[in-house]
This record gives sequence, structure tokens and C-alpha cells, in this order.
Amino acid sequence: MAILLSTKASAMQAWRDALLAIAPDLDIRMFPEAGNPEEIEAAVCWNSHDMAELRRYPNLKLLVSMGAGVDHLLRAPGPPPGVPVARLKDERLTTGMGEWVLLNVLRFHRQDAEYRAQQAARIWRELPAPDTAQRRVGILGLGQLGTHAAGLLRMVGFPVLGWTRAPRDIPGVTCFAGADGLRAMLTQTDILVCLLPLTPETRGIINRDTLALLPPGAFVMNSGRGGHVVADDLLAALDCGHIAGAALDVFEPEPLPPEHRFWGHEKVLVWPHASSITIPSSAAPQVVENIRRMRQGRPLINLVDFSAGY
Ligand code: GLV
Repeated sequence: MAILLSTKASAMQAWRDALLAIAPDLDIRMFPEAGNPEEIEAAVCWNSHDMAELRRYPNLKLLVSMGAGVDHLLRAPGPPPGVPVARLKDERLTTGMGEWVLLNVLRFHRQDAEYRAQQAARIWRELPAPDTAQRRVGILGLGQLGTHAAGLLRMVGFPVLGWTRAPRDIPGVTCFAGADGLRAMLTQTDILVCLLPLTPETRGIINRDTLALLPPGAFVMNSGRGGHVVADDLLAALDCGHIAGAALDVFEPEPLPPEHRFWGHEKVLVWPHASSITIPSSAAPQVVENIRRMRQGRPLINLVDFSAGY
């Protein structure tokens, strides 16, 4: 039996090599060279793969999605019915995201834009020193990525707040949940960091109303999905000065069209969905583990809960 591998062409060979390095006996078919459809027992795919196509494989028993976010699987037609779906929970992805959050929180906190503007004008001037203990960072989403980022921010000395759909208790993090909790957290958040999964409930969560709840001069960071932010609302909040800056890694659509205002906006830092990149050699062990578990009929790891949407 064989494994169907499908991702962007530039990553295909690295994924194949990483899987074979751990399990040299795997029969890996690189899409579209699937061979006999009856021989495919597992598919390891990223978001460009057409879910309707997966219905061609009658013996498919496992789908592994090669990323953390699974919003692409929530859209119709979705994965073939009855096929369990696992996603990636990966250490390198988590540390990469922690670095991105820290980098941009510190940029905003340490007035990097102002100092760079002064440099461009050859101005030697000290700005008032910011107080770390007064700069509250509010994280939307306290899964593996959010919890790790919260720990790093705590270590630097920032007060950290966090919001989740169901109540959580994380030491050192002031936790909020539900719609009322969201409003309460936003009124106390100086730097908002979105690391949520995109679900029908979280789509557009950063909008005119929620942005208005942030204190004047707050910053916004998004590395969840583009759909979390209502782009026109964020642009309006930046233009009127209520929001002082934004660091955005994800957009709708991607790539961000060349004519989009985010590209040239002086208060916006644009990243090409690169805050944290899946490294095949780091993620491959859990994929092989799931293939083995599937073959042995043992419980799978990192299963997607479609009722929760992640
Ligand atoms: C990337 O955005 C991922 O979901 O892994």
C-alpha cells in the first residue's frame, strides 16, 4: 500500500526525503503520479490539494494535513467522509511562531519605527523609555502556538492576557473566554496578537467594533489567517491613528495583491505568510507515527476535531 504526497512543487522532494529518512520502506507517490488509486491508503496533503480528488481513492484510511491550520478542510466538499484527519503540531513551527511574535512585539514596544524614521532623517534623539511591565500583550488563541508565545513574552516581562473560546487556566496568563471575555480583554490590550484557528466563529474577529475596544495607540498582529481581520476596518483604524501599527503575516487572498494598500502603508509590516514555516524533517516523525498507528489500528495523534474547527 502507498502514501500519496501532495504539496507545492518546491517542498515535495524535501517532504519525500524526510519521510523516507525515517521509514525507508514507505511507497510514496508524488501527486499527480498516484499510480493505482486502490493502493493509496494515506494522503499527506497541503491546502492546494483538491479534496474532491481524494474521493478517487477507495482504500484511503488517513489524511494528514501538512500544517497547523485546517480552515481549508472546513470548506466544501471537505475531506472524504469517514477518513480521519490529522494536522501538524510541530516544535519548529511553535518556536518559529514564538520568535515572530517576540520580534514584532519588541519592534512595537521599543519604538523601532520611530527610530528608523529618525535614522532616515539623521536625527539623534532619545525617545521616552517604554515600560515593559505596563505594555499588556493580549493573545487571541492559547493553543500550542499561543501558549508558547505567552511564555516567551512573560519571560521578557510583559503582562500577558489570553483569550480562548472555552475557559483556560494558564499560569502567569490572565485568561478570558467567550464574547464578554473578549471585550474585557481588548479594553486592556496594548498589543493584540491573533494566533487563532479560522472558524465561522473567529472569521472577522478583528473588525471595527473590536478594534474600537483597544486603547488608543494599540498595535495589532495577525498570524492566524487573513480572514480573521476585516482589512478595511483595520486600515481605517490605522489611518485615523487609533491603531498605531500592525504586523500582518496572513491575508485574504494570498499572495496579497500588489495593489493592496497594506503593502505600502507606513504603519503596516507585511510578511508573506512566513512567520513560521513547516520544516519537513521536523514534522515528518509525527506523520510516520500516524501512518504506523493507522496500519496497526491504534489511536491516531493530532486528530482534527471538526466540531471545534481545529
Ligand atoms: C500555516 O499557516 C499552517 O497552518 O501551518
